[in-house]
Amino acid sequence: MAPQISLDSIDVYDPEVYVAGVPHEQFAVLRAQSPVFHHPDHEQPRGFWTVTRHADVTFVSRNPEIFSSHRQTCFLNEQTPQSLAEQQLMMVNMDPPDHTRLRGLLNRGFTPRSAARLAGKIEAACDVIVDKALATGSGDFVTMCAAELPLVVIAELMGVPHEDRYKLFEWSNRMLAADDPDLSPAPDEGVVAAAEAYAYANELGRTKRACPVDDIVSKLVTPDENGLELTELEFDLFFILLIVAGNETTRNAISGGMQALIDNPEQWERLRADPARMARRAADEMVRWVSPVMAFRRTATRDVELGGQLIRENDKVLMYYTSANFDDEVFENPHAFDIGRDPNPHVGFGGGGPHFCLGRHLALLEIEIMYRALARRVAQVVPTAEPRRLRSNFINGVKEMQVRLVPAD
Ligand code: HEM
Repeated sequence: MAPQISLDSIDVYDPEVYVAGVPHEQFAVLRAQSPVFHHPDHEQPRGFWTVTRHADVTFVSRNPEIFSSHRQTCFLNEQTPQSLAEQQLMMVNMDPPDHTRLRGLLNRGFTPRSAARLAGKIEAACDVIVDKALATGSGDFVTMCAAELPLVVIAELMGVPHEDRYKLFEWSNRMLAADDPDLSPAPDEGVVAAAEAYAYANELGRTKRACPVDDIVSKLVTPDENGLELTELEFDLFFILLIVAGNETTRNAISGGMQALIDNPEQWERLRADPARMARRAADEMVRWVSPVMAFRRTATRDVELGGQLIRENDKVLMYYTSANFDDEVFENPHAFDIGRDPNPHVGFGGGGPHFCLGRHLALLEIEIMYRALARRVAQVVPTAEPRRLRSNFINGVKEMQVRLVPAD
């Protein structure tokens, strides 16, 4: 890539830019010329910092005492004190030691072993999804294959009874619609959906507290070996966080992964030749390539130098995973989609540190099993229209991807 873009013309914060795809040329210029870049913000005089190199993204992620989550992770909008106080009750917006206590309790439900326990259910769900998609033959890959699995898995994980699962779909759609200007949602629709999910979580937690069974929710709402447990409020907020954090991210990794395979047919053939062996690494490469969460924010707790720049206390710092994942200091030939890439130290789940994605084992397992099922049963995925992308500077998303599935014999 030979970037010919001047620093003054760069705007990786503009959501419009992402409709055509991630602006990799702009990120390449930033990494090469100004890896910790002071981005002007048209609405706020202080602007914000854009961190684009892998080494700096991991440094910011791993130093929460300098780069706080509690002082806001919400992109750039200033929050009212009340909405900020509510958000600070969620783990994504906490710093150690509060975060450490909560995370310690939640980790119990998200170990590789807990994820592996769901493998059979995930396999069964993928078989049903792929069966249905093949029977339909043509349609939107996002709806047919990518959207359902993450919600089925969250429902399974949280022990949501079968008859209530449609509610999870409905809340999730309404919460997501509230962020999508193209759908012109009713005002406050997302807030109403979140309130309904919150009330549901409260009831679910009470039931499991009264009659614990062998599932994750029961584990989370009853005391651990040190007598510590989640409060009611913490559990209810966590339930909502899961619907948001575990759903659209995994869906976009699956859809974006398929787009990458369509664009790189030799990688699809490589996957089909040996799905059992290749699907796990392919899942990691899809998360690197897509970077479903493109960036996250921290706030400086004190003056600090990074990448030769002086960041001042309270400055806003945006870490661009989608740039760090294409940093040629770390990845050989980063713009090649390589399902066998090894090692693959991508930051798609965050740059390490205390907030490193809690659901990463589960997400990778879901993507791996879905692609094992697809590679075994589908010979070819043929696009029938241009995909439509989400207009967002936060989530790298495919809204619609019309395809025809050719069954394997
Ligand atoms: C945090 C990405 C799937 C639950 C995060 C973060 C990222 C991320 C970038 C922030 C890391 C940081 O601030 O350092 C992804 C991607 C996924 C995915 C790309 C799918 C491909 C999931 C799933 C779940 C989940 C399936 C749960 C079922 C969470 C939670 C946090 C989180 C609870 C907050 C952790 C904390 O603040 O300590 N994820 N995620 N994620 N993720 Fe994921």
